[in-house]
Amino acid sequence: MRLKGKSALITGSARGIGKAFAAAYVAEGAVVAIADINLQAAEAAAAEIGPGAYALHLDVTQQASIDAAVTAVEERTGGLDILINNAALFDLAPIVDITRESYDRLFQINVAGTLFMMQAAARSMIARGKGGKIINMASQAGRRGEALVGVYCATKAAVISLTQSAGLNLIAHGINVNAIAPGVVDGEHWDGVDALFAKYENRPLGEKKRLVGAEVPLGRMATAADLTGMAIFLASPEADYIVAQTYNVDGGNWMS
Ligand SMILES: NC(=O)c1ccc[n+]([C@@H]2O[C@H](COP(=O)([O-])OP(=O)(O)OC[C@H]3O[C@@H](n4cnc5c(N)ncnc54)[C@H](O)[C@@H]3O)[C@@H](O)[C@H]2O)c1
Repeated sequence: MRLKGKSALITGSARGIGKAFAAAYVAEGAVVAIADINLQAAEAAAAEIGPGAYALHLDVTQQASIDAAVTAVEERTGGLDILINNAALFDLAPIVDITRESYDRLFQINVAGTLFMMQAAARSMIARGKGGKIINMASQAGRRGEALVGVYCATKAAVISLTQSAGLNLIAHGINVNAIAPGVVDGEHWDGVDALFAKYENRPLGEKKRLVGAEVPLGRMATAADLTGMAIFLASPEADYIVAQTYNVDGGNWMS
């Protein structure tokens, strides 16, 4: 029960990694807002996780939606202790095929969404005066470029940079900002990634997934459950002295 009595908001947590984090936080005693653009899926996830979880509609690209979500958490739980910026979108295309539309959408969700959620959460945490924890979901994609993944890689590099700046700025208020950089995590998200690689690299469905799993030094893709330990640790008092860092949880794919 390392998060007993804590109030958390996890963006994009109706499925995948965010949903696994929500379940793990509830098991550690937190009350968690499953905040997602897909309200129906968020409600289903909250019902599945149990009484410690509740659903909120949130579109991280809309300032009014961000502000309303933070206010809803304050009203329901008395104040926000933990934010995980988890919502993100992936896309893939060779440089010559990247569209303005794809660029704008990925940067709006992955970068602006992360920044303005951090800002709203920090304003709330500062006003309350009890500090807090903010965890951003980066990626191994933010550590280096990839031939077909230019825009997504750039958004995740920006998340690592924002984590550093916000971490340095907000620690004065007792708010720890850190990030997690996963490698390849099995789930619905990677099913979509696999289908895009199948199209652009002319492969059968499922082949890219098998290859990236085999290339992980640990020998397989991650599951969402492989990441929950780091998410709990970074939200706990044990991480009070950790500031502006991005941790690789990737089976050995990247060393930095
Ligand atoms: N799956 C991987 O292999 C992997 C690897 C590295 C990093 N990550 C990162 O981990 C995080 C979670 O990944 P995942 O695989 O669980 O993704 P996912 O695609 O399964 O889930 C993303 C969630 O975000 C929600 N969402 C989308 N747009 C939104 C918006 N505008 N506002 C609010 N919610 C929105 C979706 O409805 C969905 O529930 C992401 O930041 C992703 O970039 C994933």
